[in-house]
Amino acid sequence: MYYYWSMKKLVVGNWKMNPASLKEAQELFDAIKDGIKGAKAEVVICPPFIYLSQLKGLPLGAQDVFYEERGTFTGEISPTQLKDLGVEYVLVGHSERRKLGETSELVAKKMQAALTAGLKVILCVGENEGENKEEVLRQQLAGVSGVIVAYEPVWAISTGDPYKTKALPTPQIVKESADLIKKILGDENVRVIYGGSTNAANAKEYLEVVDGLLPGGASLKADEFVKIVESASV
Ligand code: PGA
Repeated sequence: MYYYWSMKKLVVGNWKMNPASLKEAQELFDAIKDGIKGAKAEVVICPPFIYLSQLKGLPLGAQDVFYEERGTFTGEISPTQLKDLGVEYVLVGHSERRKLGETSELVAKKMQAALTAGLKVILCVGENEGENKEEVLRQQLAGVSGVIVAYEPVWAISTGDPYKTKALPTPQIVKESADLIKKILGDENVRVIYGGSTNAANAKEYLEVVDGLLPGGASLKADEFVKIVESASV
């Protein structure tokens, strides 16, 4: 069993299905790269698959991965293909993929294949509004080890304009959730990060209780993302 333990805070930008062109992706990437020069945080950018081979100079993560190495799986991308491009991280089990029908069994297979290939896995977990958090986390974390866990309560994701968010979990709630995740995994040292409408204004308070952040919307604005990284450079 091994961990990607580090004193540094981790900031992972999840671009989702954005931006619309390679040119924009390159511009955003370069602006982020310039803006975070000298930052002490660990930064990972997760662009769409198609841009992974084009963006150079910051650690990259994929937003998903398949569980086989090669073969007749139209449209899928394997962990070894990602490794070959120099991709270091992969998001597995993001709620937007679970919403499209990805089951816990599928998530577990992807996680295992990615770990076997030597990718660093960021496993996304979190309850839907109204669900029992502990039950959901226990189910989503069954048999899990050797990963970074992103706690992303589904109700807090993409609430729109980062400054007009609906009620987000308080740092206290995020801390309780991170503690619960560590308890379920029986591991005090697992890195837990938080995602769900994080922005330059709220990054600092969340970073006091977790090991990093997973901004989505805010990672598409270079200035905003750079400010988040500055807050994480402690
Ligand atoms: P958000 O996305 O910051 O736009 O809420 C976070 C995520 O889905 O990982």
